[in-house]
Amino acid sequence: MNKFPEPKEKIDYRPVIHFTAPQNWINDPNGMVYLDGKYHLFYQHYPKAPHWGPMHWGHAVSEDLLHWQHLPIALYPDELGCIFSGSCVYDKYNASGFGSEEKPPLVAVFTLHSMDGRHTEHQGLAYSTDYEHFEKYYGNPVIPNPGQKDFRDPKVFWNPVKKCYSLVLAAGENVEFYASHDLKKWKKTGEFKAGSHGLRGTCECPDCFPIQTEEGEKWVLIISMILPAGDIGIQNDVYDRMTHITQYYVGEFDGDTFHDTEEADKPLLLDFGTDNYAAVTFQNLEEKVLIGWADNWDYANFAPSDLDGFRGKMTLARKMKLIRTLEGWRLAYSFEGLERLRSASYPLMQGENRLRARSFGLKVKVEGSGSVVLKNQAGEVLAVKVTGSEIIVDRSQAGQSDFNREFALPGYERTHAPRSFAKSPEGATEMEIIMDKCILEILADDGLTPVTTSVYPRRSYEKICILGDLKAEYYAVE
Ligand code: FRU
Repeated sequence: MNKFPEPKEKIDYRPVIHFTAPQNWINDPNGMVYLDGKYHLFYQHYPKAPHWGPMHWGHAVSEDLLHWQHLPIALYPDELGCIFSGSCVYDKYNASGFGSEEKPPLVAVFTLHSMDGRHTEHQGLAYSTDYEHFEKYYGNPVIPNPGQKDFRDPKVFWNPVKKCYSLVLAAGENVEFYASHDLKKWKKTGEFKAGSHGLRGTCECPDCFPIQTEEGEKWVLIISMILPAGDIGIQNDVYDRMTHITQYYVGEFDGDTFHDTEEADKPLLLDFGTDNYAAVTFQNLEEKVLIGWADNWDYANFAPSDLDGFRGKMTLARKMKLIRTLEGWRLAYSFEGLERLRSASYPLMQGENRLRARSFGLKVKVEGSGSVVLKNQAGEVLAVKVTGSEIIVDRSQAGQSDFNREFALPGYERTHAPRSFAKSPEGATEMEIIMDKCILEILADDGLTPVTTSVYPRRSYEKICILGDLKAEYYAVE
C-alpha cells in the first residue's frame, strides 16, 4: 500500500511570499546566514518526491526575505549518512582555515544521519568560499556519537564569555553545549535538562542567542520538541494538544551552559498555532530574525499541495524582541520585509468586503472583541475571533481536512491562543494577519500572541468580514 496516498484535487496552493522548494519535499530551515546583503536559507529537502526521504540541504537566497532565488542543492547524502538539520557560520577570521583572510569561509555544521538502518547521528562539517558550492570536511564526523539515540541539529553561535565558537545540539531529552576555537575540535561544556522546567520530550533543533532588552542583555534558548504521544490531549489546550511544539526559555549563558532564570509558570511557546516548528535564527545578523517550518509532522506528508508540485513551506521571517509583560519576559515578533507592501494599505469597511486576492495582509487595530471571517462560494469559512483573553483561529470549516486524521482533530482545527499584553489589557493593540493561499500567520497583541496555521480552501475566499471592535486595513501581497 502507498504510505502517502495521492490527494484528489489539484488546486494552486503555492504561496507568493512564503518560501517553498521548486518542487517536492521540505522541512526545517537550516544554516540561515546573512552575507553580503543576501539572506541565505538552506533547508531539509528530499528532491525526488513530495514526502520525507533521505535528506539533502536545499539552498536559496533573498534580498528582501519575501522572494527567493533557488540555488543548486548544497549538500547531498554521503557514505556517513544523509544530511539532517544544522547551521552555518560565516567564519569571518578564518579560524577554521577552510578559507583565507580575503575569502572567509562559510562553514556548515550539520548532522550526518546514517542510512544503514541504525540511525546513528554524528555531527559533520562542510565549507564553501563562493557561498554556493560546498566541500565536505575529510575529518568528518567532528563530533562522533557518544552512544546517544537522538543526537542532532547543531546550532553554532559566538561564545562571548570564552571568546570561541559554541554550539547547542539536541541530545535525547536534553540539549548539550560544545565549544571550539576552530570549528573542527569540539569539547562538551555543559547540558540543559529541557524537562526540568517546561514540557518534556525529545529535543530537536535548539537555538541559543543573546538578545538586548530594556534591562540589559538576556539569553534565549529555543527547543523544538516531540512530546510523548500518551501525554497529549488531556486538557486539549495549546499546551498539550500537539505532539510537536516549540518552546523557549529566558535566562543566561555562562560560557558553558544555559540557565533558565525566568522559570515561567507555564511553558513558553514560540507559537500557539499548529504549523510553526524547528524555527531558528539567522547567523551574522545583528537583529534576531527567525524562520520556522510552517507545517506539522503529524500531517505534513499528506498536505494536499503536492499536485501543485511542492510540499512544505516556511513561515515569514520574524524579528524578535524580548519584552517584560504582565506575566514576565516574553518574545514579541514582527514580520520582516513587509514595509513596501504595507505602505499601499487601505481601510476595509465594517461588515462584508469583497476580496480579490488569495494572498494579502491585514493591519488590524484591536479595540475590543471581534472577528475577521473569510468566506468562499464553496461555503467554506475561516474565522479569527478575538476575545478579551484569547485569539481563536477556527479552520474546521475552512477547506480540505479529510486528507489526514490529525489535521481534522478538534485540537488541531481550533487554536485557542492565550493573549499576552505588554501593558494593561484595556488599551488597543495591533494585530497583523497574512493569508498566503495555504498559510495563515497572525501576530496579535503587538506581536506577543502568534498563531500560524495551514489551511487548504477548495476555492478562493471571495469575502472578508470585519466584525466587532476591529478596524482593518488591507494590502495586496505580490
Ligand atoms: C525536525 C527534524 C530534525 C532533523 C530533521 C530531519 O523537524 O526531525 O530533528 O534533523 O527534522 O529531517
